[in-house]
Amino acid sequence: MLDLEDADFRYPDSENLYCQRIEKCGWSVYSNNTTEVHRGNWRDIFQDSTQASPIRKLHVEVGCSAGHVAIEWAAQTPHDAYIGLDWKFKMAYRGAEKTQKRGIKNLIFLRGRSERIQYIFGPGEIDYLYLYFPDPWQKYSQRKNRFISPRRLREVAPLLKPGGVFHIKTDHAEYFEKMVLAANECANETNSPWEISELTRDLHAQNPDRASLSIPEVTLFERMFIREGIAIKSLKLKRRG
Ligand SMILES: C[S@@+](CC[C@H](N)C(=O)[O-])C[C@H]1O[C@@H](n2cnc3c(N)ncnc32)[C@H](O)[C@@H]1O
Repeated sequence: MLDLEDADFRYPDSENLYCQRIEKCGWSVYSNNTTEVHRGNWRDIFQDSTQASPIRKLHVEVGCSAGHVAIEWAAQTPHDAYIGLDWKFKMAYRGAEKTQKRGIKNLIFLRGRSERIQYIFGPGEIDYLYLYFPDPWQKYSQRKNRFISPRRLREVAPLLKPGGVFHIKTDHAEYFEKMVLAANECANETNSPWEISELTRDLHAQNPDRASLSIPEVTLFERMFIREGIAIKSLKLKRRG
């Protein structure tokens, strides 16, 4: 069987109910192998659906769930385009359903695996990449499933435009420290594509009203963690020009 990160990998057929619903859902959601056919040309898709000229920035949220944050961003900023990627069929379907109901044309959802990101997006295609509260894969035996590693940061860098930003937030202290190590390792390499532009271990420390922050200022998971008193860690990597 081919590895998920192999160039020839193909998603298997699925009996998932939401996979079938996605197929009937139209322009606002793509799933499995079709997430990779527009690599390098996502802006054209939006040009057709929004009739907005030109699309200013392309934002991509990895692990977007049902798009609670991306939907609000897209509604607030109609001249930018947004893509939400999640591996759960149901999340991608629900996101697309809400987007269509609200008449939002500058947001689409992809049901696919974040590990395929370099096959979904082409060089320099993304202006802003977001990874908010990725699954921490806490057990030692599961850590190979974590999205962030030095290798992944090297793979992702060419997908961003020079000046583009990769923003990561997490509640998980141990995973965050591994992210910081990975970022430092990459940023210190000769001709590194990354520089660390922001790093904090308590993003909302200065905000006494943080428990009342709402979407899209915070994500669903972030709101829950803030209310539990957990400090939010945040890292911004900037693509060097
Ligand atoms: C902990 S939730 C965070 C959701 C949201 N970002 C938030 O902050 O509220 C992690 C999300 O990542 C998605 N996810 C996990 N592994 C993934 C993968 N390999 N590729 C794409 N999405 C993934 C899950 O389905 C889930 O929606």
